[in-house]
Amino acid sequence: MNLHNSVSWITGAAGGIGQATCHQLANAGSHLVITDLDFEKVNDLASVLKEKGVEVLPLQLDVSDQSAVEQAGKQIREKFGRLDILVNGAGISPKGPNGRVPIEQLSSDEWLKVLNINLNGAFYCSQVAARMMKEAGKGHIVNIASQAGRTFSSITAAHYSVSKAGIIALTRQLAGELGEHGIYANAVAPGRIDTPMIRDVAKEVNERVIAKTPLGRLGTPEEVAKTILFLASDYSSFITGTVVDVNGGTFIA
Ligand SMILES: NC(=O)c1ccc[n+]([C@@H]2O[C@H](COP(=O)([O-])OP(=O)(O)OC[C@H]3O[C@@H](n4cnc5c(N)ncnc54)[C@H](O)[C@@H]3O)[C@@H](O)[C@H]2O)c1
Repeated sequence: MNLHNSVSWITGAAGGIGQATCHQLANAGSHLVITDLDFEKVNDLASVLKEKGVEVLPLQLDVSDQSAVEQAGKQIREKFGRLDILVNGAGISPKGPNGRVPIEQLSSDEWLKVLNINLNGAFYCSQVAARMMKEAGKGHIVNIASQAGRTFSSITAAHYSVSKAGIIALTRQLAGELGEHGIYANAVAPGRIDTPMIRDVAKEVNERVIAKTPLGRLGTPEEVAKTILFLASDYSSFITGTVVDVNGGTFIA
């Protein structure tokens, strides 16, 4: 797979799936814009990625801040003058002391926070990307949705599931509106993936998921990242507007 000299922007780049995606894209030859709320981690990641011989622009970015996202877009233009791939990966999944917060106890502040980061953030970044990609007449947007956006989730709360269902609708809309400009939009819907995000629940919660997964284990960030790489490349040249489930077969169990 050759993404030589392309430019990829990954949000939530310092997270488990984000870091794995950066490595996959860098291995394929893409230069990287890596953004995350956690600037220390994003800077450390930049040092490692530069050793692969790709150019890296690390930025601290809160995706829920629309003016900051616009500013990041300007910095991408200044540094690279183009954007070929956007991966919307930034996300949070807040839990209560006993795991999922029941719907009647969800505060509207918490609801809005999750929607602002998980869904609005992807919208703001996609807008910036769509403008640059339209100028070039090509591009790939890959959104990280979730199985929670496809089915009822016993682990995550309603704000998270709704944000991820929204991401799937956003993906369809982007694909439908931008296809004629040579721009692809697809989503991955990971099941339970072993990253910091899933380590804030009791061990039994993840064991329960594993017991219901035909492949009998959690997924790895690399397995999600490889699917993202496929959707960001010419290997998926007749695929747009879809959601690829990366969940070890939980839908058939
Ligand atoms: N791990 C899973 O089981 C799983 C399953 C389905 C979907 N996902 C999704 O995959 C994506 C990556 O998750 P992960 O598992 O790697 O989790 P993670 O917690 O390791 O990574 C999430 C990253 O997002 C960053 N972030 C949080 N708020 C931000 C903001 N406002 N602006 C910018 N960055 C912000 C965090 O700093 C972190 O680096 C998320 O969208 C998540 O919802 C994860």
